[in-house]
Amino acid sequence: MGHMQRGPVTKRQVIELGINLRLKTGTLYAVGVGPGDPELLTIKGRRVLEEVSCVFSATSKGSRHSLALDIASPFLKSDAKVIPLVFPMVRDKKLLERAWQDAAKKVIEPLGRGANVAFVTLGDPCTYSTFTYLHRTLLSMEDRLHVEIIPGITSFQAAAARIKTPLSEGEESLSVVSGAKGSAEIEKIASCTDNLVIMKAYRHYNKIVKCLEKLGLLDKTVAVRRVGLQGESVTRRLKEWNGDKASYFTLLLAKKENRARKLHNS
Ligand SMILES: C[S@@+](CC[C@H](N)C(=O)[O-])C[C@H]1O[C@@H](n2cnc3c(N)ncnc32)[C@H](O)[C@@H]1O
Repeated sequence: MGHMQRGPVTKRQVIELGINLRLKTGTLYAVGVGPGDPELLTIKGRRVLEEVSCVFSATSKGSRHSLALDIASPFLKSDAKVIPLVFPMVRDKKLLERAWQDAAKKVIEPLGRGANVAFVTLGDPCTYSTFTYLHRTLLSMEDRLHVEIIPGITSFQAAAARIKTPLSEGEESLSVVSGAKGSAEIEKIASCTDNLVIMKAYRHYNKIVKCLEKLGLLDKTVAVRRVGLQGESVTRRLKEWNGDKASYFTLLLAKKENRARKLHNS
């Protein structure tokens, strides 16, 4: 596997390139395993998990646990290698960058030997997923990468199905925002969307609830916690709900339309 070269090519580089091109490069599959219920793993995702020789999953330094890996585990070959990629829960860009680079090196190693590997991620790999950072880092280090992304069912799709409410219908718009940094993004988007999904709603839950109240959206919002997982809950009266119950696996679905509100209550 070779790096992007600029300027005149040396004889040694030509020889190395020839050797590299003859080497078989493995494929990295990013597999979205769905939001929790193992039956929401796609058939394609399952097939890939059954075939790869090595599986990577992101874990935080503290917990070392990966729910995505729990979902994937029953389908892995008995001799498949499982490698956690540990990331510090910090905002320091340099530390994070180093962690991503260390992770990318671990992924590149088996690919260079021609092995097919998977990175498992909760929900969908293209929706607020750690895979995006890994992919970007890999591309910055290695330009001859074979990557295939297997989409997964997102947490908000599963949540909408759970409360039997359309995410959007007819000409309505749908916006998906992150509440990880508070309510600023919600304030910005709310006026110009019909339906709002708020992901990562746990840390600033109380701030977000206050914002939704100010916007007149609180009684049009439903909190869905741990969809498809043990302890799943749906809360419609957010004013009475203690925000302390909001866990990492909490998302909010807000709908302006009164017509749809009827469905929310069904
Ligand atoms: C880093 S994002 C991952 C999103 C994921 N890639 C997806 O496609 O749904 C994490 C956020 O997704 C939401 N989430 C993920 N799984 C969930 C679940 N089972 N129930 C409710 N919310 C969930 C929560 O808002 C959580 O804070």
